[in-house]
Amino acid sequence: MKSKTKFYCTDCGNETGKWFGQCPSCGAWNTLVEAEAENPKTRGTVAAGRRSLPTPINELSTEEELRFSTGLGELDRVLGGGAVRGSVVLVGGAPGIGKSTLLLQICGLVSGERILYVTGEESTRQLKMRAQRLGVESGGLYVLAETRLDDIITSITDVKPDIVIIDSVQTIYNGDITSGPGSISQVKDCTMAIMQLAKGQGFTCFVVGHVNKEGAIAGPKVLEHMVDCVLYFEGDRAMSYRILRAAKNRFGSTNEIGVFEMADNGLKEVPNPSEMLLSGRPMNSPGTCVTCVIEGTRPVLAEIQALVSPSGYSGSRRNSNGIDHNRAMLLIAVLEKRGGVSMQNSDTYINVIGGLELDEPAADLATVLAIASSAYDRVIDCHTAAIGEVGLTGEIRSVNAINQRLSEVGRLGFTKCVIPSHMRGDVAAPAGLELIRVRTVREAILAVLK
Ligand code: TYD
Ligand code: MG
Repeated sequence: MKSKTKFYCTDCGNETGKWFGQCPSCGAWNTLVEAEAENPKTRGTVAAGRRSLPTPINELSTEEELRFSTGLGELDRVLGGGAVRGSVVLVGGAPGIGKSTLLLQICGLVSGERILYVTGEESTRQLKMRAQRLGVESGGLYVLAETRLDDIITSITDVKPDIVIIDSVQTIYNGDITSGPGSISQVKDCTMAIMQLAKGQGFTCFVVGHVNKEGAIAGPKVLEHMVDCVLYFEGDRAMSYRILRAAKNRFGSTNEIGVFEMADNGLKEVPNPSEMLLSGRPMNSPGTCVTCVIEGTRPVLAEIQALVSPSGYSGSRRNSNGIDHNRAMLLIAVLEKRGGVSMQNSDTYINVIGGLELDEPAADLATVLAIASSAYDRVIDCHTAAIGEVGLTGEIRSVNAINQRLSEVGRLGFTKCVIPSHMRGDVAAPAGLELIRVRTVREAILAVLK
């Protein structure tokens, strides 16, 4: 081991097998540093041991990162316009949500790339069967059923793939670390090793990570800060649709979502999420209102449902799903105090249909109206949508991108839309959409509750 140790000069980069006080190549003093011996475990770029030099920012090259399409438009969108070469993408999600299906599907869709699929969970036979079901028959796809990090790295070096898929990071282990696969140190070390290999060799790596009950990947969010991009695959397993969301993206925005539907032969893209989210909506029942939120660059219609029912002898229960709990409590308080709706002695439940998480204030007005509709047991016309932020004094405040939202509302056949009376900029409603401008929560309730 000792004889393999190498030294590098931090000035000229010269490599020697022995330490010298003065670099034999450039003559500089005290510039030789020890580098790790070169073996498959040597960690990519760090192994070079060469110090990179600070460079003035205006001398840096502005070359665009190289991207390629994964063949799935929805995935490309979440990645920021395709996958970036040399980047590491962590795909997180609960077991059974469809991570392996998604990644195996892109193996059949990307063209002309050499892919290495490392499976630590399924046998090669199981993977082959799944590939047949999904119609994936690519000659460039290599499958490796292996969990030892060293062997995986050796195969990557042999195959020289353009894309590596690790399914999943919790199953692979480094034999030099005593803790078991899936432990924090294993998961961290293996990801780091693969990541540096990806940067060194320039392949794109998709790493699957199972999310535990607390919603974190492998315990604490140990991997998120390391990788370039973190995607979460979410959705109700009982329902067929799945939402892919970027939690971090070094090469694009993080608020794009991709929507898929799980069918018999794999995941189908849903280019029109509003239609899907609104399908099967109850018509003319109290306690539901539709709003429009902007997810990334796309307007998406969402249905908010509320149920207000008398509480028993215990105190009132308030529960919200898909809307931040504190925001929901605030809206209930405003509705009670400023909207004049009595919520005492009643339980309130709020739910956003389709597993969407609404974190935009533009959804406030529809939430308040859905609650009021249930509290009064009066129906909001099913062709009416509501967009607006609710302030603490009960005022309805303006929201951004109103025209984009209105055109989506109009496109889906709505005839009326409640909006704030005071809007910054021009408001252009599409033909056939009547705008109801309101100043306060009270006005909004009077305008829509029949
Ligand atoms: P999977 O990709 O194995 O989930 P993960 O890798 O995230 O654990 O997906 C498993 C589920 O998807 C499983 O319940 C079966 C279902 N499925 C389909 O409905 N259609 C399909 O074509 C495939 C391959 C899976
Ligand atoms: Mg899987």
